[in-house]
Amino acid sequence: MSTLPSETAWLCLAVTAALGGLVLCQLKKSPGQVGRKVVCLAGLWGGACLLSLSLFWGLILFSLSCFLLYIYLSGQELLPVDQKAVLITGSDSGFGHALSKYLDQLGFTVFAGVLDENGSGAEQLRRTCSERLCVLQLDVTNPQQIKDAYSTVVQKVQNRGLWAVVNNAGILGLPADGELIPMSHYKQCMAVNFFGAVEVTKAFLPLLRKSKGRLVNISSMGGEIPLLKLASYSSSKAALTMFSAIMRQELSKWEVKVSTIQPGGFKTNITGTSEMLEKLEKDLLDHLNPDVQEEYGQDYILAYRRILTSFSVHSSSDISPVLLDIRHAISAKSPLTLYTPGPGTYLWLCFFYFSPTGIFDYFNKKFLNFDVNIPRTLSMPKWKNEVM
Ligand SMILES: NC(=O)c1ccc[n+]([C@@H]2O[C@H](COP(=O)([O-])OP(=O)(O)OC[C@H]3O[C@@H](n4cnc5c(N)ncnc54)[C@H](OP(=O)(O)O)[C@@H]3O)[C@@H](O)[C@H]2O)c1
Ligand SMILES: *[C@@H]1O[C@H](CO)[C@@H](O)[C@H](O)[C@H]1NC(C)=O
Ligand SMILES: *[C@@H]1O[C@H](CO)[C@@H](O)[C@H](O)[C@H]1NC(C)=O
Ligand SMILES: *[C@@H]1O[C@H](CO)[C@@H](O)[C@H](O)[C@H]1NC(C)=O
Repeated sequence: MSTLPSETAWLCLAVTAALGGLVLCQLKKSPGQVGRKVVCLAGLWGGACLLSLSLFWGLILFSLSCFLLYIYLSGQELLPVDQKAVLITGSDSGFGHALSKYLDQLGFTVFAGVLDENGSGAEQLRRTCSERLCVLQLDVTNPQQIKDAYSTVVQKVQNRGLWAVVNNAGILGLPADGELIPMSHYKQCMAVNFFGAVEVTKAFLPLLRKSKGRLVNISSMGGEIPLLKLASYSSSKAALTMFSAIMRQELSKWEVKVSTIQPGGFKTNITGTSEMLEKLEKDLLDHLNPDVQEEYGQDYILAYRRILTSFSVHSSSDISPVLLDIRHAISAKSPLTLYTPGPGTYLWLCFFYFSPTGIFDYFNKKFLNFDVNIPRTLSMPKWKNEVM
């Protein structure tokens, strides 16, 4: 290490300390996981600078990173809640339900769109939340219900406007090979996960443009990464992700900020009740051409049950990372465009983008371990196949 003029060293130290202090103050004002991770990174970076360079350049670099961090953290600051109005679709259960309660507790005026206004989820929201929360009958595939919900919202918010729309409603369907999934499931997934979100968004955008508010779409890791057995679900989420990316740019002129959330696996009702699964299964078998059914074999087709169990095993039951990220997307001065809550979700995305296809495919199959068995025809010795 070089010796340096003592005045310069003192000056550097003073600037570093001042900037470091500013960053810490800013950090206090902007809670959330994003901030903390970044500060840890900056700390490491600063340490590395000090160790690897001369003291002088180390301090200069450290000061610079503090300064950039300060600018970044200013954008992370959360805006005041101020009873801002937020519309959430699919609040019967899962993320939407938990988010409605969470935002209500924080003081937002929540419009909780539900698929069934007489269901237990809607009932529970009415019972446990504040007077501000309003439960709305809102099947996102029903244009009339969207119009009615719009009228109710306009009437209730009056001049205060609507601050944010969270497109959360979604269905998963039955995990199976793309060849086996009936057309009706593909269409249903598109109807809810994509067209539903588009229609709700189009209906409420005039309000969001007025308030310069926020649009938040709950897409999925499956919308980005080709997850096996989810052809219908993931294709609809991929459409949503692409639409979001385009709208983000088009809406920037109106100062409406758009974020996409791509959660990893979390335990919710998305895997469906047993009666729903039975219905889907019957639907799948009824629509299957007998030859195809023969070639795949019943054992293989019905393995979706084990796949769903394996989803649950790999899922996290603490959904708070999702709620914190959505809150950040709604409230931060500069929300991120993409949030990836869930253990390993971001790493998995990076792995997908940066590894060669062959390697990704290998690990995708290995990790998810979905090929619990193989189609009947493929499991027979080769000579038998030829005889058939
Ligand atoms: N859980 C995960 O691991 C995970 C991972 C990535 C992405 N996501 C996404 O996160 C979002 C929320 O899912 P979740 O896990 O919380 O599942 P969930 O518990 O099933 O919640 C989805 C909600 O949407 C409702 N819904 C279904 N069809 C609808 C329609 N046509 N109109 C309005 N609402 C409708 C459901 O109502 P019912 O309860 O009455 O069916 C349910 O309340 C979905 O978009 C999902 O794709 C979830
Ligand atoms: C799933 O739905 C049932 C009732 O339909 C509800 O009691 C339960 O809390 C829901 N689970 C989640 C995780 O939302
Ligand atoms: C809920 O119940 C009311 C009163 O019984 C009924 O008018 C309404 O259609 C029901 N809503 C749904 C979605 O079934
Ligand atoms: C959400 O999806 C809708 C419809 O697909 C799109 O208009 C909007 O820009 C998307 N917004 C976000 C935040 O992804």
